Amino acid sequence: MVLTGAEIRQSFIDFFVARGHTYVPSASLVPGGDSTLLFTNAGMVQFKDVFLGTDTRPYTRAVNAQKCMRVSGKHNDLDQVGRDNTHHTFFEMLGNWSFGDYYKKEAISWSWELLTQVWGLDKNRIWATTFKDELGQIPEDSEAAQVWLSQPGFDPNHLITSGRKDNFWEMAETGPCGPCTEIHWDLGPEACEKQGEPGHVCTVNGDCGRFTEIWNNVFIQYNRLSPTELVPLPKRHVDTGMGFERIVAILQGVRGNYDTDLLAPLLDVVQTLAGQTREQREQNLTPYRVIADHVRAATFLIADGVVPGNLGRNYVCRMIIRRAARFARKLGLTEPFMAHVAAKVIEIYAEAYPEVKQSETLIFDTLTREEQRFAETLDTGFAELNRLMDAMRAEGQTVLDGKTAFNLYATLGFPLEITRDILTEEGFSVDEAGFYQSMEEH
Ligand code: SER
Repeated sequence: MVLTGAEIRQSFIDFFVARGHTYVPSASLVPGGDSTLLFTNAGMVQFKDVFLGTDTRPYTRAVNAQKCMRVSGKHNDLDQVGRDNTHHTFFEMLGNWSFGDYYKKEAISWSWELLTQVWGLDKNRIWATTFKDELGQIPEDSEAAQVWLSQPGFDPNHLITSGRKDNFWEMAETGPCGPCTEIHWDLGPEACEKQGEPGHVCTVNGDCGRFTEIWNNVFIQYNRLSPTELVPLPKRHVDTGMGFERIVAILQGVRGNYDTDLLAPLLDVVQTLAGQTREQREQNLTPYRVIADHVRAATFLIADGVVPGNLGRNYVCRMIIRRAARFARKLGLTEPFMAHVAAKVIEIYAEAYPEVKQSETLIFDTLTREEQRFAETLDTGFAELNRLMDAMRAEGQTVLDGKTAFNLYATLGFPLEITRDILTEEGFSVDEAGFYQSMEEH
């Protein structure tokens, strides 16, 4: 029997509640009182102060499904969204926590038990990575490696070590952090995008798309004060994060996140609105995915009080709506349509996140108004960008200067990300540092 997304979310929560964890509802996408982050980018954000020892909770074990956005700062997945099946701006992270309670042995054993016994995933397709510092400054996590090797049926050849980029997790430039063990799923040789390339070998953390990370178990034991200062925390904690959409895709046996019952219905709405066939949809997956992802993200942002605007979080909300609108043009959708997609988002998520239902009217109105505003300048913006690219071609230039890119935003409402998308498609790039400098000056 194939579980629905909602059932999978609940089974994760139930598994950990049965092991003494308290269910804690998702926090807002806007982190309360934390100036180091624009958005909640992981399940642990609402527990940051507990890890640091400056806050306490009436429980030492917690479980939740957290709304996350990764569009800025240390964790920014925007460039990947639409291009693959596994990245999002907004996504849900399932997590279990220990606040100075259990540690590596229980965390890893429960991960293995849930994946292989409760959900019945094939052990031969699971891989794990543990931390080994390439700079030799932070101790290697051989404890986690030993725990992996003691799991029943775990293939010892599926354990690999890796360095800071993948196996030392940090929330932001400063804050709680520690070594982690990542769990990867083998999508199978047919998922490799480099099949037939001479010398190519599929590897975990490689770039061929065959392996996908599904769950990260972080062993929080340090506080980063600066790029060079790492101080031990008074207690050791566990912070785990599972990519909800990814595990749903695996358990539902579909090609990727956009084929799950969480996202496929959004693509269906777009397909109907665009009057396209299934074949046309397959040929245009990038716009379909971008629209589904961005409208879902905007729906959740607006429900959390983040409306389109010129700066900070509001800029991000504006940018994703406009970016979705620009991709919609590729499907021939020129009239406001996003409220229809948002209605489906609300239908799918209202039970787990009642706030989207409560803000329904605001969400529809905000999306439509923003689409209308952008429509007023979009054609002029396209024409202006085309003129600029012609001029660059004539002069043999490849990089659009930041000030011009900023002017496109200030006068025609083209966020940097849209300008960059269009330029990249035509083989150009943009001076992003210059854009932000002009924005500051402005
Ligand atoms: N904080 C870790 C992550 O985001 C695990 O939850 O990957």
